[in-house]
Amino acid sequence: MIIAIDGPSGAGKSTVSKAVARRLDFSCLDTGAMYRCVAWKALDEGVSLDDAEALARIAHDNDIAFTHEAGDPLPRRVSIAGADVTDAIRTAEIDRSVSPVAAVPAVRAALVAQQQRIGRAGNYVVEGRDIGTAVFPEAELKVFLTASAAERARRRVAQNERRGVGSTDYDVVLADIVRRDEIDSSRDASPLKPAADAVQMDSTGRTIDQVIDRICELAKEKG
Ligand code: C5P
Repeated sequence: MIIAIDGPSGAGKSTVSKAVARRLDFSCLDTGAMYRCVAWKALDEGVSLDDAEALARIAHDNDIAFTHEAGDPLPRRVSIAGADVTDAIRTAEIDRSVSPVAAVPAVRAALVAQQQRIGRAGNYVVEGRDIGTAVFPEAELKVFLTASAAERARRRVAQNERRGVGSTDYDVVLADIVRRDEIDSSRDASPLKPAADAVQMDSTGRTIDQVIDRICELAKEKG
């Protein structure tokens, strides 16, 4: 079974996906981390974010691997071409660079093929922007999770403070969220939009636990 969770940055997808996966005993796949890995590798190699061909080559030629810690079914760390980039992909520089990278159709084609291979291997909660529309249009349950930009910026600042990476300046984070929403929603290749059959949930003013409970209920109805 695939549960697709799509939505804009900071809507709470990661927290919700991990919690749903734990409760239902599913694995989970963070597809945004994969686009972040390609952006990191491009910056590391000094590749211009305008060079679509070089970006596509990076996405195509470098393995992205998620690794688990002993006894925990959910992945904790991510690497590209053997380099552990778990923290390095969460910086403000990557926040700024990732959306142009994700707008390149050949980058998406390479990563979508990997995502489909991973997801088809078992029961997965898959989070991203185009999971219900492009990666797993056949997913049994599709959720489009959103929240107001102000709420998402507040949550992202709190998350960055906890993790000790990324900007903790509310105005900087809000501006980045608004800019990324704009690029992600207006690009030609698989823009951010709800699938026709997605259940839409606005998490503004709801606790994360309420959202998690609702998704688990829906999954049980489908399963
Ligand atoms: O989810 P996260 O904020 O880590 O995603 C980083 C970026 O990767 C998004 O802003 C978007 O540009 C891109 N992305 C995408 N398609 C996905 C997941 C992420 O285009 N399925």
